[in-house]
Amino acid sequence: MRTSYIKDCVETIINMAQDNNISSPLNVLELFAGEGSIFTQYLAKKCNKVIGWEIKNEFASDFEKNVPNGRFFCKDTISLLQQENSDDFLNDANIICVDNPLGKYGDEYFEHFKFINHIHKLIHRPSILAIDIIKKPYNIEGNLEWVEERKRFYNIDKDELDMGYALNFYKKILEKQGLSVGDAKIVCRELDGDLDYFYMIICVVDKAK
Ligand SMILES: C[S@@+](CC[C@H](N)C(=O)[O-])C[C@H]1O[C@@H](n2cnc3c(N)ncnc32)[C@H](O)[C@@H]1O
Repeated sequence: MRTSYIKDCVETIINMAQDNNISSPLNVLELFAGEGSIFTQYLAKKCNKVIGWEIKNEFASDFEKNVPNGRFFCKDTISLLQQENSDDFLNDANIICVDNPLGKYGDEYFEHFKFINHIHKLIHRPSILAIDIIKKPYNIEGNLEWVEERKRFYNIDKDELDMGYALNFYKKILEKQGLSVGDAKIVCRELDGDLDYFYMIICVVDKAK
């Protein structure tokens, strides 16, 4: 049975925004909008507006139903972020969420590994950045490619990611892109029975001065 801690994640995002003078209006950019039904709609209730990018245009009407203060844009987020420049990088968001599919998706993507180094293109002001992270891959036998890719990405030799190591790892990844990282927390997002696997790293970022 799954136990969701989305409420804790949303509360942490909002509290960290308030504590760091990231205040009204709270404008969200969700890079993987889906239909908004799993996570985005709960965050949206505490924010002024939400822009959702999503590759599947057929999710547009459900997204806008589930997120009444949201606007849906059909985008391939990953290809977009890999571009040098785009008008889409200009935004007024101060909460950026990275709720990508877990595991392998498309033909070649694993979690956020291929684009997290480009996230700086979207940060123009003090902002909260919330990124899904997987502590422990599930169904290891059926997901060997993903398990190996994670080890390469995190530079670890075991399957489980230590959360203290992860905090440091993401700080470094963001700082290398010219971002400053302030307050940062890792919050459990979901347990699946006794599988302790799904977390969010939530941090305050800005362009480094
Ligand atoms: C975990 S779901 C998003 C859940 C959503 N945030 C919510 O709260 O319901 C991930 C979404 O990413 C979309 N997706 C996959 N590849 C994508 C890409 N390259 N660009 C944009 N969206 C993509 C999938 O279609 C899927 O809807």
